[in-house]
Amino acid sequence: MATNKPKMEGEVFYPSDEIIAQANLKDWDVTAKAALKDPQAFWATEAENLEWFEKWDQVLDDSKPPFYKWFVGGKVNITHNAVDRHLKTFRKNKLALIWESEDGKTDRTFSYYALNREVSRMANIIKAMGIGKGDRVTIYMGRIPEIVFAMLACAKIGAIHSVVFGGFSVDALAGRIADSESKLVITCDGSYQNGKLVELKKIVDESLKHCPSVENVIVVKRTGQEIFMEPGRDHWFHDLCALPIANGKCATEVMDAEDPLFILYTSGSTGKPKAILHTHGGYMVGTYATLKYVFDLKDEDRFWCTADPGWITGHSYLVYGPLINGATAFMFEGGPAYPYPNRWWQLIERYGISIFYTAPTAIRALMRFGEAWPNKHDLSSLRLLGTVGEPINPEAWKWFYRVIGKEKCPIMDTWWQTETGGFMITPTPVVPLKPGSGTRPFFGQDAEIVDEQGKPVADGEEGYLVLKNPWPSMLRTIFGDDERYVSQYWSKYPGKYMTGDSARRDKDGYYWIIGRVDDVIKVSGHRLGTAEIESALITHPAVAESAAIGLAHEVKGQAITCYVQLKPGFAPSEELSEELRQHVSKHLGPIARPEEVKFIDKLPKTRSGKIMRRVLKARAQGLPEGDLSTLEE
Ligand code: WTA
Repeated sequence: MATNKPKMEGEVFYPSDEIIAQANLKDWDVTAKAALKDPQAFWATEAENLEWFEKWDQVLDDSKPPFYKWFVGGKVNITHNAVDRHLKTFRKNKLALIWESEDGKTDRTFSYYALNREVSRMANIIKAMGIGKGDRVTIYMGRIPEIVFAMLACAKIGAIHSVVFGGFSVDALAGRIADSESKLVITCDGSYQNGKLVELKKIVDESLKHCPSVENVIVVKRTGQEIFMEPGRDHWFHDLCALPIANGKCATEVMDAEDPLFILYTSGSTGKPKAILHTHGGYMVGTYATLKYVFDLKDEDRFWCTADPGWITGHSYLVYGPLINGATAFMFEGGPAYPYPNRWWQLIERYGISIFYTAPTAIRALMRFGEAWPNKHDLSSLRLLGTVGEPINPEAWKWFYRVIGKEKCPIMDTWWQTETGGFMITPTPVVPLKPGSGTRPFFGQDAEIVDEQGKPVADGEEGYLVLKNPWPSMLRTIFGDDERYVSQYWSKYPGKYMTGDSARRDKDGYYWIIGRVDDVIKVSGHRLGTAEIESALITHPAVAESAAIGLAHEVKGQAITCYVQLKPGFAPSEELSEELRQHVSKHLGPIARPEEVKFIDKLPKTRSGKIMRRVLKARAQGLPEGDLSTLEE
C-alpha cells in the first residue's frame, strides 16, 4: 500500500506502491490541474505525439458553439496513425491483433505488417466498388477480424463507416442503412452465438428490400451456411480477394482533421436513433490519450476489451485506441459463458492478457457461477481491470477486484458515451478508488451537477450531469440533423453539454452516476431507446399502443418491461404476451427482447398525448407517482 494516502470519505482502495512505481503518469493532480487550466495546451501536446500530414493552425475553433472544431487546418488520417505509422518502427512485426473463435478451434494473429496488408486489400476492394471520400458504408458482422479491417479500410480511403451491432435485426438494420444512405454493405454469411448460427446475410437481404441506396454487398464467409446471393449485388469477399485489384498496397487518403470518420447510431430520448458523427482528427487524439493514461498502456501489454465493435466501446477501445497506441489487442468471437463459465478466464490465461476491460453486467453474470471457475485459471498476467456501460454495484466491483484481480489490479470505472467518443469521468491507476464511482473528470474536462434550472447543486445532492468545456473526441453533430444536435445536447443548459445522466458528487469531488434521466434503457450495458422498442411492437397486428420502460434487474442492470394496449378484438393472454416478446426480438433484435409484456387498458398520458413512462415506472416499483397535474382525465 502506498504511504501517502489522502484522507477520504467512504470506502477507499488506494493504489499500491507497485502500481504507482510502474505508472507512466504518477502525478495525477499536477497534470489534472495544468490540463484544466489550459485544456488546449494539454490536447495539443497529445496530438503532437501522433503523425500529421500537415500540422493544424488552430487547436480549437469555438467561434460557433456548439459546432466546435479541433485541430483546424490539420491534415491527417486515423488509419495512418493506427496502422501505417507503426510500420516504420519495431512494431512492424509486433502483434496488432489476436483473435480466437467462439469454439476455440481457431486463432488468427496479425502483426502490424499483416494488418496493413489486410486493411489495404479491403480498401482496394471497397474503392473498386466506387466508394470514396464521404460515402457511407454500413458494416454488419459478427466479431471477426474482418470487421476491424473493414472499419480501418473505410477510414483509409475517407469513407464514413456505420457499424450496426450484429445483435440487431431487420428493423434496426434497415432503418440505419436507409438513414445513412449507404451504397455498400459489408457483412458475413452468419455468425455464432453460444453455438447457434445467426443468419446475418438473411437479415441483410430482408433489410435491403427497404434500402434502394445499396448497390453492392460484400459477404465474408464465416460459418459456411447456405445463403442467398443476389447476382450483380452480392459478392463473396474471398472471390474479390482473388482479383488483381485486391493487392496489399493502398495509399492512405489525406483527410482534413474535421472530416467525418464514422457515424454510429445510438438511442436518445424519443424518436428514431441518432447518427452520432465523429471525425478523424479529434477522435483520434481523444481515444489515443484516454487509453494511454487510463489503462497505462505499455508495449508489452495485451489489451482485451470485451465489447463488440458494433458499440462505441468497441470502436474506441477495441479497434482505434489500442492500435493508435501500437498495442496488442485481443478480440474474442464469443461471449463469457459458452460453453462454460470459465471461457473468459481461460482466454486471459491462454493469451496472457494484462489489461481486461468489460461491463458490470458480465461481471454480475459470471459472479453467479462462483469463484471455482476463475480459480481454475492462472490470472497472474493481469495488471489492470476496467468497466464501462452502466454503474457498477460495489458488490460486483469487490468481486472483480478480489477474485479476478487478486487485490492487486486497480479497476478503472470509465464513464463516457457514444457522444463523448472517449473516457470522460475516470480514474487512472494512481487515483484512489471508491467502488461504484468513476472518480473524477479526465484531464482537460470539467463536469458539474445541476438542477432543473441549471444551477449547481450542493455536494451529495442528486442532479443532472453536464460537461462544461469542449473536448477533441466529442461528437460534431447528428449526421444530417444539426438542429437536433443543438436541441438534444446544448439547449437545456446553454453552453453546457447535457449528458442525459443523473449523478451526485461527494466531498472528495468524486462522481457517482445514478442513471439515465431520459428514455434510454441500458440492458446489459446495451443502449436501447423506448421509441425503437415501441415501434417494433406497433407493427404487430394486435397492438394499438405501447410503452417500454426499464426496470432494475439483478444481472442485466435494467430489463425491459412493455405495457401494451390491445386493439379491439384481441384479448390478453400468456401466449400473446410471449408472441409479442418474440416479435420484438425478431424485428429489432434479441438484445431488445422484453423481459415482460403486460397488458393495460389505457396508458397514462399527458393532455397533449405523450405517454407518461415515469408514471408506469413508479407504479411498477410501487413508488409514489409524483406530479400528476399533466395527466389527462
Ligand atoms: C452509462 C457507453 C455508470 C451512462 C460507453 C451513459 C455508465 C451511457 C458508465 C452511455 C459508467 C456508461 N458508470 N454509467 N462507468 N459508462 N454509462 O452511449 O448512462 O452506449 O450516459 O456509451 O451509459 O451509453 P453508450
